[in-house]
Amino acid sequence: MSDSRSRREPNKTIITPLTLGGSMIDVGTEELLEETPQIVTVEGNRYVLHERENGDVALYSAICPHQRGRITAREEILLCPNHRWKFDPETGECLTVDDERLPAVPVSREDGSLVVETLPSKIA
Ligand code: FES
Repeated sequence: MSDSRSRREPNKTIITPLTLGGSMIDVGTEELLEETPQIVTVEGNRYVLHERENGDVALYSAICPHQRGRITAREEILLCPNHRWKFDPETGECLTVDDERLPAVPVSREDGSLVVETLPSKIA
């Protein structure tokens, strides 16, 4: 991959954190959106990166809200292998249990990069 800030493996990308001017945190380049949903690691924590059908970018915690399992991205579904809860990558909503969801972090596009203002510690 041409981006020196990240290393990509099948369906998983390890990102070396880079804090831009101010408090913006670099998630990676927009090239990551070519294959989503996928798991990315930002500042040592796992997230699900997804480009929604409307072009918006979503970043969700990849920690299951049930018992903190590790969410995986399998084709068009997010799955916790511990107890098989499934999540919709478009919304982060749980498809298995009502009123559960993956917490989302707002993502912006800036000059070909994906950035977030903060990574809340409660979901990191
Ligand atoms: S820990 Fe994820 S479904 Fe139970």
